[in-house]
Amino acid sequence: MGRIAARLQRWTLRRRLVVVVVALVAVVAAGMGAVSALALRSSLMDQVDSRLVAANERAATAPARFNPDFAGDGSGQTGSGNGSGQADDWRPSPGNSQPGQSTGTVNVYAPDGATDVRADYIDDSGTLRELTDSQVSALLAVPTDGRPHPVDLGGDLGAYRAISSTTTTGATAVTALPTSSITETVTRFVVVEVVIGVLAVLATVVVGLMLVRRELRPLDRVAATATRVSRLPLDRGEVVLAERVAERDTDPSTEVGQVGAALNELLGHVQEALTARHESESQVRHFVADASHELRTPLASIRGYAELVRRSPEVLPDGAVTALSRIESEASRMTALVEDMLLLARLDAGRPLESEPVDLAVLAIDAVGDAHVAGADHTWRLDLPELDEDDEGPLVVGDEHRLRQVFANLLANARVHTPAGTTVTVGVRNVGESVQVSVADDGPGIPDELRDRLFQRFTRGDSSRTRGTGSTGLGLAIVAAVVGAHRGTITAGSGPAGGTVFTLTLPAA
Ligand SMILES: Nc1ncnc2c1ncn2[C@@H]1O[C@H](COP(=O)(O)OP(=O)(O)OP(=O)(O)O)[C@@H](O)[C@H]1O
Ligand SMILES: [Mg+2]
Repeated sequence: MGRIAARLQRWTLRRRLVVVVVALVAVVAAGMGAVSALALRSSLMDQVDSRLVAANERAATAPARFNPDFAGDGSGQTGSGNGSGQADDWRPSPGNSQPGQSTGTVNVYAPDGATDVRADYIDDSGTLRELTDSQVSALLAVPTDGRPHPVDLGGDLGAYRAISSTTTTGATAVTALPTSSITETVTRFVVVEVVIGVLAVLATVVVGLMLVRRELRPLDRVAATATRVSRLPLDRGEVVLAERVAERDTDPSTEVGQVGAALNELLGHVQEALTARHESESQVRHFVADASHELRTPLASIRGYAELVRRSPEVLPDGAVTALSRIESEASRMTALVEDMLLLARLDAGRPLESEPVDLAVLAIDAVGDAHVAGADHTWRLDLPELDEDDEGPLVVGDEHRLRQVFANLLANARVHTPAGTTVTVGVRNVGESVQVSVADDGPGIPDELRDRLFQRFTRGDSSRTRGTGSTGLGLAIVAAVVGAHRGTITAGSGPAGGTVFTLTLPAA
């Protein structure tokens, strides 16, 4: 039972509605059919019973007007008593010799116990026929209470209703009428009803399916709107939520309309929230960009003045020289940080990038060259495809300056975050419609706790170690932002023998 209920729960509303309506129609049709068949049967039975009472009255009053010794040669109006194959001493019953008895009527007349019983029935041609002994005894067994009782006469006669009464002369008069026509009529009625019921159920299925489908179509449209909204990228940038449920599906007087209207309200609300979020985000971005920008000039001044003092011909005390070089190096570090922050703020703001054809192989060669100089204690390898004269290099369309920065950041990481002696391989190759760049090293790999937020801002490993090397944790965030702005992707993984592999894919030019 529970399982059926659970299965029903999983059915679509459409199917459930149709099944319930069809089941309801079937039950109502069956109930109506059963009740009307019973009513028909009982009313037909009443008719037979009233005819039976009348026939029995005629039979019971007959002996007074009827000569019991009548020999039966064309006695009454109902028929000739001398049908073929009847015994010589056969005499018709008084009841069936009465006018007004219909065909099929059975009459038994027992004047005195079981002797001299006269019993016969009127056959379809109106001829009187003798009853068998068993039929007679079945009829005489009917209680003499003046009320109709069912009797089975078997043979040609079948089911009957019989009534038994006492005549004025004290004899027993049993009259019976056939009920086979009632059974026939009721059977035919039931057949017709079943056919009509089946047709009604079929019609309900068809019409129900059509109606339910039509009525639920607005719900589909509302759901489609919600699905479209769910596929919109809402997580960043300025979002325009233009999707709305159509006017015709927002009529609050219908259930579906209420859902549609509620969804529209929700979408409006979400749009407002997103706009507010975007506004505050851009305020923060502007602030960061402005602040970074404003910091550049004083930083340049600090560096300039520090250099000026260091180069002055006057001999400075040792402590002052050390302090000056610290001022210079910290000012450079801060300048780099400010530049990174400014770049990120600009990329966030979606500032258009340069778009010119850039050969990534050239960039890789330059970057590895620079890395050689900066990290002489690492082994640097280049893995470039061998190209024929007329082959296209691994070209992409984008901002060369920014892409150089991507290489620089990845190679700087491979240099700074791995021990001396590490081999770093930079590969560039065309893969289908895109260019793939990989920077692989056989160093210690990226710490597990960083993996999830590797490309987020200010994510960096062991801070005590990296702080000393001037690490800020913006390098990979910038790489990801630049690659994203070029409609590319970047992933970080480990090589077959450990180490780190950064793979970035950019659409080929
Ligand atoms: N090749 C690598 N091998 C091991 N760890 C790495 C490698 N590249 C990056 N990491 C880890 O990922 C962290 C984040 O790198 P990211 O470039 O974003 O910042 P950073 O190098 O620490 O600072 P920045 O690049 O801004 O100077 C690093 O601090 C380091 O722990
Ligand atoms: Mg870095």
